[in-house]
Amino acid sequence: MVSLFDPLTLRGLTIPNRIFLAPMCQYQCEQKDGVPRDWHLVHLGARATGGFGLIIAEATGVVPEGRITPQCPGLWNSEQQEAWKHIVDFCHSQGAAMAIQLAHAGRKASTYRGFEAHQSGSVPLDDGGWETIAPSAVAFPGLATPREATAGDIAHVVSAFAAAAGRADAAGFDAIELHAAHGYLLFEFLSPLSNHRTDGYGGDLAGRSRLLLEVTDAVRAVWPEEKPLLVRISATEWTDGGFTVEEATEVARMLGEHGVDLIDVSSGGNVVARIPSGPGYQVKLARAVREAGLPVSAVGLITDPAQAQAILDEGSADAISLARVALREPSWPLRAAAELDADAMARYPDSYLRGRWPAIEPVH
Ligand SMILES: Cc1cc2nc3c(=O)[nH]c(=O)nc-3n(C[C@H](O)[C@H](O)[C@H](O)COP(=O)(O)O)c2cc1C
Repeated sequence: MVSLFDPLTLRGLTIPNRIFLAPMCQYQCEQKDGVPRDWHLVHLGARATGGFGLIIAEATGVVPEGRITPQCPGLWNSEQQEAWKHIVDFCHSQGAAMAIQLAHAGRKASTYRGFEAHQSGSVPLDDGGWETIAPSAVAFPGLATPREATAGDIAHVVSAFAAAAGRADAAGFDAIELHAAHGYLLFEFLSPLSNHRTDGYGGDLAGRSRLLLEVTDAVRAVWPEEKPLLVRISATEWTDGGFTVEEATEVARMLGEHGVDLIDVSSGGNVVARIPSGPGYQVKLARAVREAGLPVSAVGLITDPAQAQAILDEGSADAISLARVALREPSWPLRAAAELDADAMARYPDSYLRGRWPAIEPVH
């Protein structure tokens, strides 16, 4: 039986446990230059000291116009690369493995960050926004209509992912996650609801998955052989006529043949849909995609240590990804170790040892 606290080896990387911090946009690059600063060091650093095995840094634009908001981070220049390296080095010093989610937001780029009062939807050009691209000139509801990507745009996207991968290596990241979920550019190509192209990048599944495979190949070509490559996909759109779990499983199989090592199985985000949310609501998708033969991580309302362990026990996933619960509880893995009788496996920084679960000693 696999424990949440057993290491997971992908290529030359051994992740110390199977608890992943899911990528989460922070919208904290206040200078709108894509450079991660103090917030990112504290946010990711706290989860590193909190015992997460793999920390996946948020959706990071491979080009400026690939950011979701002007305040999202990027990895297209040296200043960003150095800033990420500082964060990676600290998290490594705490024993966490580090991944970065490389992304292009496609038709969902150039939006206001959600927590700004009186501002929502697309940022207009005269307020620092930019023109967006997508497989087809079809808007996401409530956002600006994108321009249909030309062959030149597509080639530029592929080379930008590869360039960012080279920078991720130089910054010391152990793994890359390609963001091919949630209705961002790579998923927009996968979905027949957003991809109406009649050229080689549309049509059947082979056409719709072509961009993702080209990006995978370009990244794999520069990303070191010993470092794993992860891909996050939306395994259903919860909508008739959308991308299906059967297609997701087939794409996972193809990705495996192109050098991908783990599929992070999420869902939705490309169209407005009624998602049947509840504890572990995406676990069955992870289990289905796992049939492709690659390791998978499960995500989505996994909040309780026993629930997380049960997902591994039943063979639905190889790792567990936590998002919102980790915002309120940065040291969730330390509590999980205590609750699952795996306290010896908990990774406390020396300075925090006196805070070990359960707190039973008198303090003077
Ligand atoms: C604040 C916030 C930001 C997010 N940003 C990203 C992101 O950058 N990339 C991504 O793939 N998913 C993102 N997500 C989705 C999460 O990674 C995760 O899949 C989702 O929240 C479900 O997991 P949970 O129930 O544990 O929160 C974000 C979620 C939250 C709450």
